[in-house]
Amino acid sequence: MKNLDERKNLSWDRSKVSYEDRCGILKQKGLVVWFTGLSGSGKSTISAEVEYELFKRGKAAYRLDGDNIRHGLNSDLGFSEEHRNENIRRITEAAALFKDAGIITLVSVISPYRRMREFARERIGRDSFVEVYVKADIETCISRDPKGLYKKAANGEISNFTGISSVYEEPQNPEIILDTGILSVKDSSGLIINYILKRT
Ligand code: ADX
Repeated sequence: MKNLDERKNLSWDRSKVSYEDRCGILKQKGLVVWFTGLSGSGKSTISAEVEYELFKRGKAAYRLDGDNIRHGLNSDLGFSEEHRNENIRRITEAAALFKDAGIITLVSVISPYRRMREFARERIGRDSFVEVYVKADIETCISRDPKGLYKKAANGEISNFTGISSVYEEPQNPEIILDTGILSVKDSSGLIINYILKRT
């Protein structure tokens, strides 16, 4: 439990370097591109491709991937609704810091709850947030099953599995929808890169 009395003794220490200074050095603006979708929809693959292509173009980009973050920062969290919310809250805060550093930040997390995606949008700032719905129907994801997790979920070895035994709330107004049942990884990443280069 947070001790609110102790929090009263905190203040915000301002840096001597501003956000604008950082963007000036990097010759870009900070942006958070938030990839949401089912496990196996293509979030990690596409965001990795986008990061690589941006890097080749001299852009400072960094990917915060759900699986990876759960190895460290969020290694204490599981997949209950409460833990997923805390996962997204922490990743949002991390992404806000990366963005403030002027980095093009690529977040790839299932983020199944609309409320938390809206939280991320508000916290990061509507002007700096792009929601990308990486769309693939559940049958497509099951047939891909890159990590064998759908099989485990079907066998009852994993509980609370998104799309099977846990909810995924589809985005209602994402900036971009990538239908990965139709688009190749190159097509999808090309679309995102064009969008990012216009915005940064
Ligand atoms: S989120 O729901 O909290 O946003 P996140 O993107 O961090 O999820 O992690 C999802 C990854 O964890 C999946 O890609 C998968 O590899 C793994 N995973 C393990 N158990 C589950 C589960 N019950 N539901 C979904 N993903 C799971």
